[in-house]
Amino acid sequence: MVDGRQKVLCKPRYIRILDAESDEVQAKEAPFMTEKFKFSPREILGVKYDHAQMTDGGDLYLTRYGLPFKEQLLPENWRETEWFLAHRQKLRGTSTIYRTKTRPVDGHSLDIVVRYNRVGEELPVDTLTLEKFINADFNSPFEEITILNELRRTHIGGDRHVIPTKKPLAVFAPPDLLQLWQTGRLESKIAQKLTRYPEAKLDIRRQYIIIYGWIDGLDALQMADHLNLEGMEREKFLIQTTKFVIDELATAGFRVLDMKPAHIILRLDEHKQLVRRKDGELLYALVDYELLERIHTKN
Ligand SMILES: Nc1ncnc2c1ncn2[C@@H]1O[C@H](COP(=O)(O)OP(=O)(O)OP(=O)(O)O)[C@@H](O)[C@H]1O
Ligand SMILES: [Mg+2]
Repeated sequence: MVDGRQKVLCKPRYIRILDAESDEVQAKEAPFMTEKFKFSPREILGVKYDHAQMTDGGDLYLTRYGLPFKEQLLPENWRETEWFLAHRQKLRGTSTIYRTKTRPVDGHSLDIVVRYNRVGEELPVDTLTLEKFINADFNSPFEEITILNELRRTHIGGDRHVIPTKKPLAVFAPPDLLQLWQTGRLESKIAQKLTRYPEAKLDIRRQYIIIYGWIDGLDALQMADHLNLEGMEREKFLIQTTKFVIDELATAGFRVLDMKPAHIILRLDEHKQLVRRKDGELLYALVDYELLERIHTKN
C-alpha cells in the first residue's frame, strides 16, 4: 500500500484538467517563452509537443495537457534532488516509477507520476506471457504517448464513452549520457524501434521520463484489501474487474499485454461504495501503457 493513499481520495483543485473529459486545451503553434526557456512546436509520431532545451542540455517536451502547467513541469520544479527525495513515493511495480508533486507555482502544485521508460529492455513478464507474446517490446516514450492518445480518442458503446486514463503531461530526457550496460537496453531492440519509428529520434544512451497526472483512487488489488474482500469473493472481484477492462479495451481495438488488477484504478463514493458509471458498470481508469498496443497494428 502506498503511504498516504487514503488522503488522495478527495479531489484536488486541478483535477478537472486531469479528467478524461476535458480535452479542450490545445498545443500552441508558435514558439513561446516561460520565464527562462523558449519552447518551439515539434510533432513526433503524430503528436504535437512544445520542446525546450534546459540550461544543462536536458530536453523537455510538453504535451497539450502539460502546457497549462509548463512552469510546474520544468525539471527544476520537481526533479531538484532535495525536493525530489523529500516528496517522491516509490510506486509498487517492476519499473522505476514514483508518485511525487511539483513545487507550487502561483500557489498550484501538481500531483504527478514520474516513470522511467523501459524501451529496449527485456520484458520482466512470466515465461508463459513471453511465449505467448514473443515479439512484445516496451513502447518507446513517444510511441507510448501516441498510442495512448489514440486510445483516449476512441469512443465505444451506445453512449460513446472513452476509456479513462492518466493524462500524459510531458517527456523529459535528462542530459546525462549513460553507458549501454547502465541503461539495461539491448542494441537490437533499440535498432528495431529506430527502424520502425525513425521520426522519434531515440538516443540509446539517454533516459526518457514520462510525466503523467496522478489519478485519485486505489488500484483493484488495493481496493480488494481496502474492502476486506477474501477468498472466492476477492477472486471473483479481481477476475471480473480485469476481464471487464480487457473486453472494453478490445472493443476499442487495443490490448495491454500484461493486463492485471494493479493496472485498474477504482474509486469509492462518500458511502464507501465503488463508484459506477451511468450504465451501472464500474468506473475505472487504466494506468500502465508501456505494453499498450493496437490489436490490429497499422504498420
Ligand atoms: N496515475 C496513477 N494514479 C494512481 N495510481 C497509479 C498511477 N500510476 C500508477 N499507479 C499505481 O502504481 C502502480 C505501478 O504503476 P505501473 O503499473 O504503471 O508500474 P510498473 O512498474 O509498470 O508495474 P508492473 O511491473 O506491475 O507493470 C500501479 O499498479 C498503480 O497502483
Ligand atoms: Mg508495467
